[in-house]
Amino acid sequence: MASFHMITTLLFLLTIMLGASNAQLSATFYAKTCPNMSTIVSNVLQQAQGNDIWIFPKIVRLHFHDCFVHGCDASLLLNGTDGEKTATPNLSTEGYEVIDDIKTALEKACPRVVSCADVLALAAQISVSLGGGPTWQVPLGRRDSLTAHREGTGSIPTGHESLANIATLFKSVGFDSTDLVALSGVHTFGRARCAAFMDRLYNFNNKTGKTDPTLNATYANTLKQRCPKGGDTRSLIDLDEQSSLTFDNKYFSNLQNQRGLLQTDQELFSTKGAETVAIVNRFASSQSQFFSSFAKAMIKMGNLNPLTGTNGEIRLDCKKVN
Ligand SMILES: *[C@@H]1O[C@H](CO)[C@@H](O)[C@H](O)[C@H]1NC(C)=O
Ligand SMILES: *[C@@H]1O[C@H](CO)[C@@H](O)[C@H](O)[C@H]1NC(C)=O
Ligand SMILES: *[C@@H]1O[C@H](CO)[C@@H](O)[C@H](O)[C@H]1NC(C)=O
Ligand SMILES: *[C@@H]1O[C@H](CO)[C@@H](O)[C@H](O)[C@H]1NC(C)=O
Ligand SMILES: *[C@@H]1O[C@H](CO)[C@@H](O)[C@H](O)[C@H]1NC(C)=O
Repeated sequence: MASFHMITTLLFLLTIMLGASNAQLSATFYAKTCPNMSTIVSNVLQQAQGNDIWIFPKIVRLHFHDCFVHGCDASLLLNGTDGEKTATPNLSTEGYEVIDDIKTALEKACPRVVSCADVLALAAQISVSLGGGPTWQVPLGRRDSLTAHREGTGSIPTGHESLANIATLFKSVGFDSTDLVALSGVHTFGRARCAAFMDRLYNFNNKTGKTDPTLNATYANTLKQRCPKGGDTRSLIDLDEQSSLTFDNKYFSNLQNQRGLLQTDQELFSTKGAETVAIVNRFASSQSQFFSSFAKAMIKMGNLNPLTGTNGEIRLDCKKVN
């Protein structure tokens, strides 16, 4: 999950331009039409976790990546040559089959009712909860896009953006530094590919042989063993070396010890004078403050430019338009 770079930067803002719309989403959107939706999603996810212990972070990542490009409209799920899936080689997004399994179960219980974009949003929340993180009411009622948006995938964060650029983009659509740090905390679980951070070990700032000075020296040595020069850059490394299967606040103490895996993670703590530093410290000492800020920021992210009303459609198969 170099992938999970995702978080860091809502560069998707670039493509969305005008930020938080006042969408008519509602936590009770399916109360009458699909009352057992949460239970169904939760059951499929728990079953999937029996086959893949990493499924929860993978699902959360899909929701982030969907939202990074044109807002949360399930365009990420569309197959085909111009799909977003094929445009992000290093991001190794996975878990699509589980989304399909959830959709199949929902179609059985309440046909033609639940959008794929809402499946992603709700599955992400439940994955966070099942992983040990917070529970929150997910606003629902999104509809699915009629096209993929490959041209937008250039805006998916790579994990190398500067903190100043990320923070500016966030602010332009109403996300403050607390939102930024909280969303970055999604790297409390999951894994990233060596390719996502190897430059920090061997080629920092394009200087051959240089290691990122904000990387804890003992941690750098560990990472060099796991990601040797000339080795397989697709090897997967835990984003949170203490507990990458659990959604907790240890990510933030890693940053305090200069043990953040991605450059964009470590910058939150290591950028001199940044207002994010105090927030990292606060979340490191209070998991409940991290959890409540994370939930708030997730709702904000999920509200960015959804398709609602008669826009888009309810896809029957998340992989293709009707
Ligand atoms: C919801 O699930 C419960 C048991 O899990 C079942 O008894 C009930 O019929 C379901 N409701 C609908 C509307 O499917
Ligand atoms: C759709 O994409 C998924 C993931 O990339 C792949 O596993 C699947 O075979 C594709 N299905 C079709 C019908 O192309
Ligand atoms: C993807 O990984 C390759 C090495 O496998 C690297 O050269 C390239 O810069 C990476 N691209 C991004 C966008 O991170
Ligand atoms: C490193 O070099 C590449 C290619 O010349 C350039 O695109 C990139 O911005 C450079 N990165 C840094 C951190 O200077
Ligand atoms: C490096 O990591 C160790 C173990 O977490 C920690 O004790 C030490 O303080 C860290 N060094 C720095 C400079 O943060």
